[in-house]
Amino acid sequence: MAFFAPLCFVVFFVTALASISAAPQSHFISQLPGFSGSLPSNHYSGYITVDEEHGRNLFYYLVISEGNPAVDPVVLWMNGGPGCSSFDGFVYENGPFNFEAGNTSGGLPKLHLNPYSWSKVSSIIYLDSPAGTGLSYSLDHSDYTTGDIKTAADSHKFLLKWFELYPEFTDNPFYISGESYAGVYIPTLAAEVVKGITEGVKPVINFKGYLIGNGFTDMKYDGNSFVPFAHGMGLISEDMYEEVHTVCAGSYYMNANEACQGKIAEVRLELKDLNKYHILEPCFHSPEQQEAEFVESQLPPSFRKLGETERPLRVRKRMFGRAWPLNLMVQQGRVPTWPELGRSLPCTSDEIASSWLNNQAVRSAIHAETINITGPWELYTAKIDFTHDTGSMLEYHKNLTTQGYRALIYSGDHDLCIPFTGTEAWTRELGYKTIDKWRPWFFNDQVAGYVRGYDHNLTFMTVKGSGHAVPEYKPKEALAFYRRWLSGTTI
Ligand SMILES: *[C@@H]1O[C@H](CO)[C@@H](O)[C@H](O)[C@H]1NC(C)=O
Ligand SMILES: *[C@@H]1O[C@H](CO)[C@@H](O)[C@H](O)[C@H]1NC(C)=O
Ligand SMILES: *[C@@H]1O[C@H](CO)[C@@H](O)[C@H](O)[C@H]1NC(C)=O
Ligand SMILES: *[C@@H]1O[C@H](CO)[C@@H](O)[C@H](O)[C@H]1NC(C)=O
Repeated sequence: MAFFAPLCFVVFFVTALASISAAPQSHFISQLPGFSGSLPSNHYSGYITVDEEHGRNLFYYLVISEGNPAVDPVVLWMNGGPGCSSFDGFVYENGPFNFEAGNTSGGLPKLHLNPYSWSKVSSIIYLDSPAGTGLSYSLDHSDYTTGDIKTAADSHKFLLKWFELYPEFTDNPFYISGESYAGVYIPTLAAEVVKGITEGVKPVINFKGYLIGNGFTDMKYDGNSFVPFAHGMGLISEDMYEEVHTVCAGSYYMNANEACQGKIAEVRLELKDLNKYHILEPCFHSPEQQEAEFVESQLPPSFRKLGETERPLRVRKRMFGRAWPLNLMVQQGRVPTWPELGRSLPCTSDEIASSWLNNQAVRSAIHAETINITGPWELYTAKIDFTHDTGSMLEYHKNLTTQGYRALIYSGDHDLCIPFTGTEAWTRELGYKTIDKWRPWFFNDQVAGYVRGYDHNLTFMTVKGSGHAVPEYKPKEALAFYRRWLSGTTI
């Protein structure tokens, strides 16, 4: 038996060499402005053309797993919007670095390694989609008029070309993940991927399942979720709840009853000054004003602690993941944007990401086009004209889960943007048998949230004290559940 051991060694050695040579050298990142030291794994980034004729190019950033890249899953990450760059996830959430603000306004940030990067246990691809978002662009600006279906088709084309470029990853388990409006991007892309597999499209993608955080799913469920959430969280009075519940007969979404609309307007008035992405967090205005607000906050200190991010560096006080205002719930059809409504994004600062991604040295290092081609990088762009043209995601989820694809649907439980109440309701009403009944899940011997496991490998989970962007607020817990779910162990 020992005789064969050296042979095994040689085989592995050859495989390793092959995997290095297969990755595209023109996309290899050899240095990153703001970071000194050596990277724990290789990083690659660049464009993949999804339409030659129009010059439509999608930008991706790949962080190779710091564990065992030969077997670890490959995971695609997408932020929502529509119009939100996935560098939101890279810079502020589960990416390989913690960004330290520069000393001068607009100055180059300093990058430190993030010990809770999702690249600890997976290779992860951050994709800017659709074209017009983040660093992705098209030379034909008519492409910026788009919607769910075209976005999913482009992202599928991207994946097929990506796996051609990185054939060493075709056998790794592949998952799709993201947050917020990616609650639409993910199931629609997954359906395209599955259709491709069924039709024998090459390369065959070894698709296993998907993860969605605080995802938009269904107008009715998500639209109905905020009144019960506001009531349960103590944001509206019992009297107000009883009135709105009675007059609307428990149905808050698109209720044509005028008295109901009036009551809902009253509820909104009471919620309007909250940070919608995390109800315990102050709303970002400017650093000075914000600290003052925190001092005057009526929240008991224990509540403030619950909502605090554990990220070690001051990054920002808030972001967004969904572009539309609370009182303009996404509907079938065109999705309005904040700039269009004459308002800037609420409670948001994206200075660090903007100063890094608009720096020409950074752009060269990551093989991104110059600003005169792509326009300035924006966390959230108003450049695209986006139509929600698919409707409810429930049928997608049913189709995918009954075909054997795993799904983890998680909610930061203090998010008022996509409250957990709606997500809990639709996962429950898919009607699957409960396999693992509602129970707490733990991190470091503390309750980190609650989980309920259903048949067909569908899991619903909350993350206690987190807002809209779970890996941003709870990086340790997020890496823990991510690792457990990917490896198939109990959360
Ligand atoms: C800001 O200045 C301090 C003091 O000189 C230095 O330690 C720190 O690294 C600087 N930060 C950045 C992001 O350059
Ligand atoms: C875009 O900017 C780059 C660098 O600033 C410059 O080299 C290039 O000529 C410009 N291209 C166009 C088309 O203006
Ligand atoms: C779900 O599957 C059914 C049966 O294969 C199919 O007709 C339908 O189009 C699918 N729906 C979606 C949204 O993928
Ligand atoms: C759940 O996932 C596991 C691991 O991928 C698989 O073996 C099992 O068949 C799945 N169960 C169902 C009901 O799809």
